[in-house]
Amino acid sequence: MDGRLLVFSGNANVELASEIAADLNVNLGRALVGSFKNGETRVKIEDNVRGCDVFVVQPTCPPVNHHLMELLLMIDALRRASAARVTAVIPYYGYAKQEKKTAGREPISAKLVANLICTAGADRILTIDLHAPAIEGFFDVPVDHLQAAPLLAGYMSSLHIPDPVIVSPDAGGVGRANRFRERIGAGLAILAKQRPEPDTAEMLEMVGEVEGRTAIIVDDMISTGGTLIEAAAMLRERGAKEVYAVATHGVFSPDAVASIGQSRLVETIVTNTIPQHDNHQQARISVISVAPLFAEAIMRIHKDLSLSVLFS
Ligand code: R5P
Repeated sequence: MDGRLLVFSGNANVELASEIAADLNVNLGRALVGSFKNGETRVKIEDNVRGCDVFVVQPTCPPVNHHLMELLLMIDALRRASAARVTAVIPYYGYAKQEKKTAGREPISAKLVANLICTAGADRILTIDLHAPAIEGFFDVPVDHLQAAPLLAGYMSSLHIPDPVIVSPDAGGVGRANRFRERIGAGLAILAKQRPEPDTAEMLEMVGEVEGRTAIIVDDMISTGGTLIEAAAMLRERGAKEVYAVATHGVFSPDAVASIGQSRLVETIVTNTIPQHDNHQQARISVISVAPLFAEAIMRIHKDLSLSVLFS
């Protein structure tokens, strides 16, 4: 790719985009991303992007529809301004949990959103820890799918916890938890979860041995916190000495941080794919930055280098 590398940001996570740009030693591209008085999203790219290799950093985190629209309009504006290539950098992919129909007459929203992003004109996608890896296939353009596991496992290893056990809080997360277990060398336990209604989690049973050990719950995202809190309660009931949790995406719906603060979780570790706020310390929530990982991936994409080294 010969064109200059440019990084732009919508309003979803300017802090992360600025950190990525600083790691790449470039300034954030200048763009007006706001609203018209009638409520419609307004975008104007202020820099010349003709022939450039452009990366737009925009997680589609809450307010999801608003951030998605900003992303779509930015891609469209960049295309029409003759950028040579536009990569949508989506550190958190909203609608990912609607990747299949769970009942009749439901949409497959994650597929529709992928269609919208491709139709807007994205040439590539760069993302991390999609809720379901199959979402990669929803895009008709190349997807580079990063993992936060090396960062999160590195942090947990630095705590030197003797004889830990990695816990998947539901059947769908077993592969993710097992890969994490392989990184830090630990046992594995699996919980069976059910959702009696949306946004409510109930733990049914557990497979594995946690008695007298430190349990580390591994999940892709925390929304209400219900999954973690219920999982931690069952693990303590079954004799776990203490419980930690790691998750890539801290969505934290209202009350989630307070509920985690009142739970028996020793520490909850998330990344900054979604902006994180200051009230986290009281809830024993730590935040690890994915900016260096994204910066390295962007540099490698720009230079047509392999991304494999980022997975070890
Ligand atoms: C579910 O399939 C996901 O992997 C997470 O366990 C879930 O999104 C967490 O949501 P909540 O914090 O609302 O229980």
